[in-house]
Amino acid sequence: MYDVCMNRDENDRNKSETIASYISFEVMKIERDLHMVKGDGEFSYAKNSMIQRRAVLTTRPILEKAVREVCRDLHPQSMVIADLGCSSGKNTLLFISEVLNTICESPSRTLNEESPMEVQFFLNDLPGNDFNHVFQSLEQLEQECACRGGLQPPPYYVAGLPGSFYTRLFPCNSVHLFHSSISVMWLSQVPEHLGCLNEGNVHIGASTHPAVARLYQDQFEKDFSRFLQMRCREIVPGGRMVLTVVGRKREEVFDAGGTTKIYELLSQGLRTLVSEGRVEKEKLDSFNIPMYWPSTEELKQLVQQNGLLHITDIHLFEMDGSPTDESPESADGAPKGIAALAAGERMSATLRAGTEPLIVSHFGESLLDDLFALFARYFTSYIESEDEKSSIVVITMSLEAKH
Ligand SMILES: C[S@@+](CC[C@H](N)C(=O)[O-])C[C@H]1O[C@@H](n2cnc3c(N)ncnc32)[C@H](O)[C@@H]1O
Repeated sequence: MYDVCMNRDENDRNKSETIASYISFEVMKIERDLHMVKGDGEFSYAKNSMIQRRAVLTTRPILEKAVREVCRDLHPQSMVIADLGCSSGKNTLLFISEVLNTICESPSRTLNEESPMEVQFFLNDLPGNDFNHVFQSLEQLEQECACRGGLQPPPYYVAGLPGSFYTRLFPCNSVHLFHSSISVMWLSQVPEHLGCLNEGNVHIGASTHPAVARLYQDQFEKDFSRFLQMRCREIVPGGRMVLTVVGRKREEVFDAGGTTKIYELLSQGLRTLVSEGRVEKEKLDSFNIPMYWPSTEELKQLVQQNGLLHITDIHLFEMDGSPTDESPESADGAPKGIAALAAGERMSATLRAGTEPLIVSHFGESLLDDLFALFARYFTSYIESEDEKSSIVVITMSLEAKH
């Protein structure tokens, strides 16, 4: 009755207030709610981050080169290194052990025999990150970083640093090497003014309006420029930055290959739940994943606009996008259909490990199992219908702070 009695102005005002409250709610919740699934349970990030691990391994030579260059050019007595968006699990430790091994092998570390170089690591992520898991796993690090060639690792210290990398994190001129892997494509917020414009999609999908894609692009430009500005204040002159993001091979913003497909299938799962009356349509329309996959050209342009950094290396890798190291035929010789089913479940767990907290904060917990079961089914059908293996594009840039 009340609705019927309202005039059009009141209706419009209420509608825009509802949209505004979605927007301000979303803007606020990224810093609070964005984190990977904690612990080491079935759907944890620690257990479901093989694709991200592959990115660290694939881009390893670029990181090693940057570490060697810092040792050679800056030979700091105390080298300060920050990993931005460290999350928790084996990948965090892999980064630290890679750096320590490279320093071990670097001829420049022995320049000063009496007081050898020390290393201070800062592991940064948003406050909701499972820092306890990181701290508890540091014990394993000693075994993992047993140096190649029998050399002792340099003395090192590890500290956690909660906070958004879109804010200042360090004092001026204090960091020698920044590293970030598969993190900086997360935006600081859902693009402004997006509201419910991206009907039926959780990201840039085939039916997304180009204006929505533009909003995503604008938000990335703003965020990435800010990220670079902050780091330029914090890095020492001549310091290095190695940034790896999920990206696009083509300039076409609608086509990030396998990555676009994954989020299309997540949208499809939510649309199915809407059609079954399990999720309100407005809830789906107002949910957007705050992430953007840039092209190499877009990244280059933003670094050039910043003007304080020099690109020393930039590479695009088209990585195997499967969530496990097993081949589709699987080691135990299971038929292809069964292997595709297993791959669907693994990809579902991988996506869930990275998106569950955001989905729960928007839709609640009750749909989780069904949504990810649907996603697993759709992903299985997708890989069964594809001739080629699905791939994920990552772009790595090595940057040097100009003097
Ligand atoms: C996919 S994980 C990558 C983790 C790890 N670097 C790896 O390679 O496995 C992305 C991480 O970035 C973090 N992240 C996203 N936005 C962030 C921000 N604004 N500030 C700090 N960390 C952020 C997330 O919380 C998440 O832990």
